[in-house]
Amino acid sequence: MEAALLALAGWLDAVGLVAWTRLSPWIYPWANVLHVLGVVMLVGGIGIVDLRIVGLWRSLPLGDLARALTPVAVIGLTLQFASGLVLFAADGPALAGSFVFKTKLVLIALALGNAFAFRFTARGGRDRSPSGLARVSAAVSLALWLVITTLGRLIAYY
Ligand code: HEM
Repeated sequence: MEAALLALAGWLDAVGLVAWTRLSPWIYPWANVLHVLGVVMLVGGIGIVDLRIVGLWRSLPLGDLARALTPVAVIGLTLQFASGLVLFAADGPALAGSFVFKTKLVLIALALGNAFAFRFTARGGRDRSPSGLARVSAAVSLALWLVITTLGRLIAYY
């Protein structure tokens, strides 16, 4: 994984993104602001739907909630990848060796895998009474996104 991240860092440098992140002192801080906004949209959007599937707010129609919040989460995810790439470009070689950063990326892949498996096996969680499998998947999703967010914050310290 370290070799792949070093190759990505080299490619981002070759296409000029690394130099671009250093053009102005404002690029990195604003990428970080967008990264935090993305967390709010992604983890906030998915988190509320997961909590409903697990069993909270049973009077709230799950279908309506999922239809309203899924696009918010998808926009948040897109923001995470775009702003994350800028944050990574600014310090690629060092982050390639960061255990915390690599663990975060592995958990993001697991969380996305869980989300896709959920969409295609648990009827997209839009049943009024989600199955046991859907509840487990939603609980795993919630735990993963909270750990990913925590690791994201810890990257700067380890
Ligand atoms: C997809 C879900 C993601 C979540 C929920 C997430 C979450 C976070 C959080 C909460 C922070 C701390 C921000 C702060 O307080 O300043 C962070 C930092 C960071 N993230 Fe992400 N992130 C995600 C994806 C990515 C991706 C895809 C990349 C890179 C390709 C990335 C690269 C980084 C970097 C480099 C930092 C450190 C920034 C710093 O400490 O200055 N993140 N992330």
